[in-house]
Amino acid sequence: MKFHVSSLLLVLAGLTTIHAAPNPSKVFDFRGCTTGSPVTESVHETLLASPINGPTCGADGLSLDGNDDYADIDDFEFGGTTSFEVYVKYDSFNNYSKVFKFGGSSDNVALENLAATSTISW
Ligand SMILES: *[C@@H]1O[C@H](CO)[C@@H](O)[C@H](O)[C@H]1NC(C)=O
Repeated sequence: MKFHVSSLLLVLAGLTTIHAAPNPSKVFDFRGCTTGSPVTESVHETLLASPINGPTCGADGLSLDGNDDYADIDDFEFGGTTSFEVYVKYDSFNNYSKVFKFGGSSDNVALENLAATSTISW
């Protein structure tokens, strides 16, 4: 996966106000999504985030089971100075739960909690 974005905004779960960096190049807003249906990125409307293993949608966003649920985003490239902004509400801290992970098994960018703690790890 390669792509070039200056910023990427992922809204997985809910705030009423988004405090986004100006002009994000990619935005996935899962609030009000339809369970079982992909969410279309809202700036260029070409990329999809497809639900895998049954996450559910609600007014606050996508609810993941903490086991195997996730959303698979179509491949895109990023590089250079890149920022990520994401809104997440944890119900509990499982072992290294990913907020997001882009890339392959050895060359990736990920945000997760450390082990089963509330410490965030980049
Ligand atoms: C947590 O994940 C690490 C890394 O994959 C693994 O070594 C460890 O056994 C896991 N711990 C538990 C309690 O599942």
